[in-house]
Amino acid sequence: MVSRIIPVASFDLVIFGGTGDLARRKILPALYRRFLAGQMPADAQLIGAARSPLDDAGYRTLAREAIVEFGGEQAGERRLDAFLGLLRYVTLDARGDSGWDALKRLIRPDRVQAFYFSVGPGLFGALAERLHGYGIAGPRARIVVEKPFGHDLASARALNATLAEHFREAQIYRIDHYLGKETVQNLMAVRFANILFEPLWNSQFVDHIQITVAETVGVGGRGAYYDRAGAMRDMVQNHLMQLLCLIAMEPPSRFEPDAVRDEKLKVIRALEEVAPHHIVRGQYARRGDVPSYREDVDDARSTTESFIALKCHVSNWRWAGTPFYLRTGKRLRARVSEIAVIFKDAPHLIFGQEAGRHCNTLSIRLQPDEGMTLQVTIKEPGPGGMRLIDVPLDMTFAEALGDQVEDVPEAYERLIMDVMRGDQTLFMRGDEVEAAWAWTDPVIAGWEGRGDVPKPYEAGSSGPEDALMLMHRDGRRWREIR
Ligand code: BG6
Repeated sequence: MVSRIIPVASFDLVIFGGTGDLARRKILPALYRRFLAGQMPADAQLIGAARSPLDDAGYRTLAREAIVEFGGEQAGERRLDAFLGLLRYVTLDARGDSGWDALKRLIRPDRVQAFYFSVGPGLFGALAERLHGYGIAGPRARIVVEKPFGHDLASARALNATLAEHFREAQIYRIDHYLGKETVQNLMAVRFANILFEPLWNSQFVDHIQITVAETVGVGGRGAYYDRAGAMRDMVQNHLMQLLCLIAMEPPSRFEPDAVRDEKLKVIRALEEVAPHHIVRGQYARRGDVPSYREDVDDARSTTESFIALKCHVSNWRWAGTPFYLRTGKRLRARVSEIAVIFKDAPHLIFGQEAGRHCNTLSIRLQPDEGMTLQVTIKEPGPGGMRLIDVPLDMTFAEALGDQVEDVPEAYERLIMDVMRGDQTLFMRGDEVEAAWAWTDPVIAGWEGRGDVPKPYEAGSSGPEDALMLMHRDGRRWREIR
């Protein structure tokens, strides 16, 4: 197969928090894989910056261990050494003055400059200020920030304002790693590059939409952060919201950053407030050796949700009357992320009642086994009249695309390369994040005001019973988590 990898221009990438968990698990392995793929320029410079007193050699050792542990397939010592040769390290005090002159000496003004804030949001302001104060960031420098982008609307606004003191919006890359997933982008291709779906993509033909992001892992290890966030802030405000936007948005005129983000923003702004009885919160209970949520976060009285299901409406011409059901949780039966578009029944059944009710469903699996399935109704084979059955037209992308899928970069790989290319299409704009919080805040305030306590559900199940009821009341059913 012909390689479609387009090398990016030479760059300096500084990773603040370069020794931290995200850098070790995601950023360094992602950069290594892009290096192996031939996308990294030979003279790129990757500079780790953190408080720990390391030198270049020490940082290379840390990076080597991280890549061996989290980098997936290895390509031999020689290539790993060549990659590690691109790494430098600066010991730096984010809130003080030490280390900044040393960092400045390393940065080459004639290269693309990117600064990855892989640190808590509390440090964003200090970093942004010093990058300018020391004259390190040039006028076209880019900064990359991670979620959580704020805890609510007020804090997100404050963060945006802090960054805006030193950087223009066109320089700020807010990561939601779901947007870097191959199949998430495929949603746009499926919708806007095929004539087949778009005419049916509205409330006249779509009965409802289900978005499920189910995980089998618990919150162990991240309890302190998670217990302050909960599933609503950790997953719905960002990842599920982005999926909903891509499913619901109008076709942008071009696949360009602001055209796409303008359309997503309109969707978020069109979201109605969620009625209290359309929300179900859950918390996993102990099952056998698997500890409960409360044990994981070490708080016997925690009322944070590890599961949430809700029904919402996008109130515009296209979607009025079509509910969107969102569901996400930890310690569920299986790891599956899926969007399902359930179409309405055919308007008139010529085959009589005994043929039963059938509807078409388009399901798009983000992980695992990325692919699409279209459920269609056909005649059951054989004699005996016109009996109907539903069969899947199944397309697993890995099978359909054969060896081409080996080239598919993971979310962080793609997103970091997009930063270097200066393409913001797959990053969240400040107003988008704020609009998402503006929708999320009253939902959370509502259950806090009511003193709502999440319903327990067994680890390994599909969530609390009440979540099933949310659908049953509407005469609908969740798709199975499997
Ligand atoms: C993160 C959340 O943003 O996404 C985690 O903070 C969650 O709680 C993770 O586990 C899920 O990402 P993925 O790519 O494994 O689906």
